[in-house]
Amino acid sequence: MKPIAFSRRQFLAGTGALSLLPRASLAAGPEGLTAEVAQAQIAPETYPVTEVYSYGGAFPGPMIRLPQGGRIRRELLNNLPVPTSIHWHGIRIDNAMDGVAGLTQEAVSPGQSFTYDFTLPDAGTYWYHAHTSSMEQVARGLYGPLIVEEADGPDVDRDEVLMLDDWLLDPETAQIDPAFDHPMDLSHAGRRGNLIGTNGRYGYRLTAKRGERLRLRLINAANARIFVLRLAGLSGWTVALDGMPLDAPEKVDGEIILAPAQRVDLIVDVSAEETQEVAILRADDDEEWRVQVGFDLSGEATGRAAEPLPLPPNPGMAPVDLGRATKLEMRMEGGAMGNMPSGRMNGQMMGFRQMMQDGMFWTLAGVAGMDEAPFARLSRGEPVRLKLINDTVFPHAMHLHGQHFREIVGEVQGPMRDTLLSLPGQTTEIAFTADNPGKWLFHCHMLGHAASGMTTWIEVA
Ligand code: C2O
Ligand code: CU
Repeated sequence: MKPIAFSRRQFLAGTGALSLLPRASLAAGPEGLTAEVAQAQIAPETYPVTEVYSYGGAFPGPMIRLPQGGRIRRELLNNLPVPTSIHWHGIRIDNAMDGVAGLTQEAVSPGQSFTYDFTLPDAGTYWYHAHTSSMEQVARGLYGPLIVEEADGPDVDRDEVLMLDDWLLDPETAQIDPAFDHPMDLSHAGRRGNLIGTNGRYGYRLTAKRGERLRLRLINAANARIFVLRLAGLSGWTVALDGMPLDAPEKVDGEIILAPAQRVDLIVDVSAEETQEVAILRADDDEEWRVQVGFDLSGEATGRAAEPLPLPPNPGMAPVDLGRATKLEMRMEGGAMGNMPSGRMNGQMMGFRQMMQDGMFWTLAGVAGMDEAPFARLSRGEPVRLKLINDTVFPHAMHLHGQHFREIVGEVQGPMRDTLLSLPGQTTEIAFTADNPGKWLFHCHMLGHAASGMTTWIEVA
C-alpha cells in the first residue's frame, strides 16, 4: 500500500483557527460555468493553498438550486489545459446532456464551450462532476452540488449541503498527488486520500441552535472512500437516498454508509444536552470515530423536536414489473487477489496479465473497459432485473446513468437509487424500467476502478 504521507497529528495541530475559504465569487455569470485552475485552502491554514480544478474559481463548484420541473441551462467554458465535460449525476436526463465524453458527446477542448440545457424531472439531492478522465478531474476538484427543490418541501429551519471528500496531498506542499493511475490504487480499493474533509476543506463546521431542525444533504464526492458515519447529539431520520424520497422516514440509530457518489438526505433535530458534542462522526480505518462535520452551538430554538417529522413529498414512482422483467447477469471480476479473469478488451480476447500491462485490472461480464457493443440492448419501457455478482475481494459502487433502479431483496423492491454498494463476494440484484432512451453508462464509481475496466454501457431504444 502507498504510505500515508500526512500524519494526522500534523493536521490536528492546524485546526484551532477556522476561517472561511477565500472563495472567488462566481467568475462566470449565472448561465456560465467556467472550468479553470484555482487555489483552495483545503488543508489547515498552516499549509499552503492547493491548486485545484474548479468551476468558476470555487471549490466545490457553485451551488445550483432549482425548482423541480425547472430547466437548467449552463454553458461550460473550458479554460483548463485538458478536455472536459460535465455529468449531472442521478438526473433522469436527456441522453445528449449526460456529459459522458466519447459516448454522449465529444469532450470539450480547451478554449471551447458546450451548453447543457435540460429539465429536472425529480426533486432531490444530486451533484455534477467532470466525466472526462473523471478519475483525475473529480479528484482535482471538478464537482459541485445540484439541488432540485420540491414545490412543497419539508418544513425545516435550515438546509445544509455537505459534500464529503478526501484528497491525496503532498504533506509538505499540500499539492494534489499527480500519480492518478498508480496500479496499486487501481487494482486495490482505489485512490484514497490522506486528508478527509467536507465542502472543500478540512475541519468544516456548522453552527446551529439547540432545538433546531435541519435538513442535511450528504454527498460522497470521494474517488473511492466509503464513508461510515454516525450522528452525535443529533436525532435524525433518513428521508431520501440518492435524491429519491423514501416511502417513510427511517430513524437513524446506527451507522450511515455512504459509498462514492451516493447521497443521503437526513432530517435532524439538534437534541444534544448542554455539554454533549454535536457532530457527524466518521469511522476511520483504525476504527476510531473522528469528527467529519462539527457543530458549534449557540442559542436555543423553540421546541421543534416535538412536531411531527416533515417528509419530502414522495413522487410515487411505480415499482418495476418483475414478472415481465428481462433477466440479466453481470459478474465483476479481477483486481488484486482476485481470480485473474481473461476477458474481452478493445474487441479482442486477452489474458489477465496482458490486460494488466495495459492498465486494465477489472472486468464486468467478461469485458474490460468500454466495448463497441453495449452490455444490453433494451427496448423502451422494458423492465429489467440485473443480478450483480461481486466476484472480487473489494467493494464496488455501481452507478447507472439516466434512470433510477431499485435493489431487489427476495421479491421486495427497495427504495429508488442510482448507485449501489456491492460488497466483496456479495450477489445483489437491481431492477429498473428502461424508460429513458439513449446510451447509458453503468460503471463503478470508485473512479480508479472505472478507469481500469469497470465501465460498460446499456442502450435503450
Ligand atoms: Cu457520477 Cu458516470 O458518474
Ligand atoms: Cu469498483
